[in-house]
Amino acid sequence: MSKFIPGSDGESRNTAQPRLSRLYKIARSLLSPKVMKSKRIFLILFLPALLGLISSVIATKQDSESKRKSIEADQVPNWSRQDMNFFLHGSMSTEVVPEAVLRAFIHTYPDLFPSADLSNFGLIPDPEFGWPVGFSKKNVAHLGGQSAVGVNCASCHVAEITSAPNTPRLRILGVTSDFDAEAYFGAVTVATFRTADPANMKRFLADYLLVVDPSEGKHAQETLETEWSRQEKEIAAAISDDPFGSKNVEPGGLHTISGADLRLDHEVLAHNVDLAALSHSMLRLFHNMRAALHIPDQIPNEAPPSSGPGRNDAFGLLSAGLFNAPQPYAPVKFGLVWNVSKRHWVHWDGNTQSPLGRNLLASLGLGAPLQGKHGDLDFASIKHQTDLSETIQPPHYPFAIDQAAAKRGAAHYEAKCISCHGGVESDGRLYSAAEVGTDPLRAELFTQQQADRFNKFLAELEATGYVAPKEPGLRSTGKYWAAGLGGVWARSPYLHNGSVRTMQELLMPPAERAKTFHRGSRVYDAAQLGYTDEGRYLFDTTGRGNSNAGHNYGTDLASDEKRDLLEYLKTL
Ligand code: HEC
Ligand code: HEC
Repeated sequence: MSKFIPGSDGESRNTAQPRLSRLYKIARSLLSPKVMKSKRIFLILFLPALLGLISSVIATKQDSESKRKSIEADQVPNWSRQDMNFFLHGSMSTEVVPEAVLRAFIHTYPDLFPSADLSNFGLIPDPEFGWPVGFSKKNVAHLGGQSAVGVNCASCHVAEITSAPNTPRLRILGVTSDFDAEAYFGAVTVATFRTADPANMKRFLADYLLVVDPSEGKHAQETLETEWSRQEKEIAAAISDDPFGSKNVEPGGLHTISGADLRLDHEVLAHNVDLAALSHSMLRLFHNMRAALHIPDQIPNEAPPSSGPGRNDAFGLLSAGLFNAPQPYAPVKFGLVWNVSKRHWVHWDGNTQSPLGRNLLASLGLGAPLQGKHGDLDFASIKHQTDLSETIQPPHYPFAIDQAAAKRGAAHYEAKCISCHGGVESDGRLYSAAEVGTDPLRAELFTQQQADRFNKFLAELEATGYVAPKEPGLRSTGKYWAAGLGGVWARSPYLHNGSVRTMQELLMPPAERAKTFHRGSRVYDAAQLGYTDEGRYLFDTTGRGNSNAGHNYGTDLASDEKRDLLEYLKTL
């Protein structure tokens, strides 16, 4: 399942760095001795502006709070506060990285984890919770009983947007997020492999100690250093004897690890700590983490292409991880989790009718361990996530709408779009890739053989509380679904593979659409309907599965008619 491990794709993290270092330079120059001397002048000159800035920040913050509440509240009128908390941070049994290990990795490998709040992976920081939106926490037996983090639905299905740079963000539920899931899991995986090098293990354990026993600080670090030097030979031998922690366990099997095996604090250090045994336990822990993610204990030879923010190849990864049947890489945009209770068949090709089955698969793909046919997961909480997610409604457009233009645009929608995108849901709304002309890879790859594999798997799966469905939950259609266009203003970039940046471009003939664009911006362009051409990741439409061709509908409208249609689409 080497597909799961992306390269440290330079392009996906390059643009934030120069901006940060510029800010850093400005801050440093402000704090330089020369400037400090003239501090008084600086304060006199800038104090009023500073106060103005602070009060405007407070005002816009309040403004955004109320707007944010209104978008979210409209989407989920019946949710309690607990429901919201559960959607944002509830468990779907995917907890797979011990918190202390992740905090230590972040310190030890800044090249893999350039921002401590993980925002470089497109995640939304949530300081109150301590980890981003869409992260959950739970003590996990096969991780030494430690508190570990996993991802839930919200990591891929919640986003925040702004109307201009540096203005407050509005939160949207159920929409495609910016999470670069492969980059995040890839970074964690690479960190586990790197730590099998004694020098890295030493740095990692020092950071781990700092996280779990911060109060003893320097003193504990010194003891660790002394003990490390004393035991260096034994440690190196223990690591080289079992670098992947994979001895005495079947591939994919789990070691039994106790909390005591992983303990490192000043008390342990003071009592003849066995650092060789501790290092070995860490390697066994890393094996367990990889096993739960279906990642083999071998460093992959080549990095797969990176899908970038807001996309992954869910079915391909599951096929490789669960059935050992890798297939060509076909990343798609995270789907829209709106009005799901009114839908029957979901996904871009309408291949799934069992929401619970789908979410069990998501859980097993993202860290819940599978032992034989037994899924080690909490069925009740996955059902709770599923039930909540089905009630989310599309978001209302939060900015101004030109109502007169929208009214004119309604006629174009009725003439050009509604025949496919409107009316009752039925298989009549599935269109072959040949007819709609968009990239065929995703539709083609989910064959009936693939559907049969998933159905067999779900029929045989055992998990406490789970009853296998009577009817097969998955099918192959080989087509794409013309989804309802509710909340279409927020669904950029468009099409199943996210290959067209704005709605305005989708109304342009395919040859005139941009061949490359940046992905990862949360700044919304109200004129074009879509996110601005900025961000960490360069989307290349010439890549396999990435074509932006097809869907020529409405491209023949006159430009003022297109503007009216865009305005109308904001009302959906
Ligand atoms: C790692 C990212 C990720 C996580 C976590 C995730 N999803 Fe998804 N979701 C996707 C992707 C990718 C698709 C599109 C798959 C396809 O069609 O091939 C999708 C599609 C969907 C769809 C279908 C939407 C449509 O328009 O057809 C629903 C519903 C959904 N997810 C609900 C959930 C729920 C509920 C959870 C939590 C239990 C969840 N997802 C967790 C990535 C994710
Ligand atoms: C012949 C049927 C048909 C017509 C007519 C049609 N569409 Fe589509 N549309 C589809 C299909 C099928 C898809 C899914 C294609 C894919 O994702 O590859 C789609 C996808 C889309 C998407 C992408 C949705 C997303 O979440 O990314 C948008 C937006 C869209 N259509 C808007 C329109 C508009 C606006 C019109 C009218 C100008 C229109 N469509 C006319 C069939 C149609």
